[in-house]
Amino acid sequence: MSLVTERESLTFARFHRLRRTPALRRLVRETRLDPAMLVLPVFVDARVDDPSPIAALPGHARVPIRKVGDLAARAADAGIGAVLLFGLPESKDKRGTAAADPLGPVPSAIRAIRDATDELAIVADVCLCEYTSHGHCGVLREDGAIDNDRTLEILADAARVYAGAGADVVAPSDMMDGRVAAIRSALDSSSHEDTAILAYAAKYASSLYGPFRDAADCAPAFGDRKAYQLDPPNRREALAELAADVAEGADALMVKPAGPYLDVIAAARARFDLPIAAYQVSGEYSALHAAAQRGWLDLRRAALESLTAIARAGAGIVVTYFALEAAEWLRQR
Ligand code: PBG
Ligand code: ZN
Repeated sequence: MSLVTERESLTFARFHRLRRTPALRRLVRETRLDPAMLVLPVFVDARVDDPSPIAALPGHARVPIRKVGDLAARAADAGIGAVLLFGLPESKDKRGTAAADPLGPVPSAIRAIRDATDELAIVADVCLCEYTSHGHCGVLREDGAIDNDRTLEILADAARVYAGAGADVVAPSDMMDGRVAAIRSALDSSSHEDTAILAYAAKYASSLYGPFRDAADCAPAFGDRKAYQLDPPNRREALAELAADVAEGADALMVKPAGPYLDVIAAARARFDLPIAAYQVSGEYSALHAAAQRGWLDLRRAALESLTAIARAGAGIVVTYFALEAAEWLRQR
């Protein structure tokens, strides 16, 4: 060996060696997606008898209560970890009363899923915006501002009702201050001390919720959610929100949206030892679909890459509209 070659071989590392074949790449892979970590959002509609497709969320529909059991069985067969339930009620009012109706769409769906399968965890989203006539996530004061403290009791009522129907986990997404404490104490005082709370602790006032608001019919009739959801530029404030929810008794923490907030997911993972969930929201899903439809990217590769990135950042639970397809893709790989 000449002196020159010897020196060159010492001056740089050959990373290509372990990338040479699919088998080697699989061997050294640092992040593995598993269908069991995926959560499928489901829109349960009390107003329809047949599924009604949601244009902005390709492959998703508002599901009537009588069909929810079938969908849950499919999710269980695919190996998915959980469903996350949102409800569209028969009627709405200023206080969002229907959120806590024991015969409402979410409690009915929980009972139907329990009957259909015991392999899925059932997570019930807790918020008022699908149930209020004005579309805000809480009740309003005379001046139109959110009445944080009056909202807490309604959220706690709703959580108690979902727990009573058999939800394993309640997931408050309203971003009211003090909601985790209020929900924890309502659950504990109604013998639901074993129902867990997954707090949407760091939920940003994002531009990426549009398709969801169409799907769940919950766009605010006036104003926006910036006075209660986090301001996108702020990460330290998100960590303070997360810490508050831990102190109030959250069992797991969510960051939302996911893809544009990987730094927040990573910071949450580093700081807290509770399970960290991330929500790949409707706009993240729809954007990939829209681009794929134009032939601008490959949907399967882009979807799996986006989910892998969310897991790599530190999320152990990923809520995604790709859940069913992704579980299938992962099985094929
Ligand atoms: C309502 C809620 C929203 C989402 C989940 N729960 C919308 C919002 O806050 O306006 C968004 C989810 C998505 O876009 O997929 N509390
Ligand atoms: Zn809401």
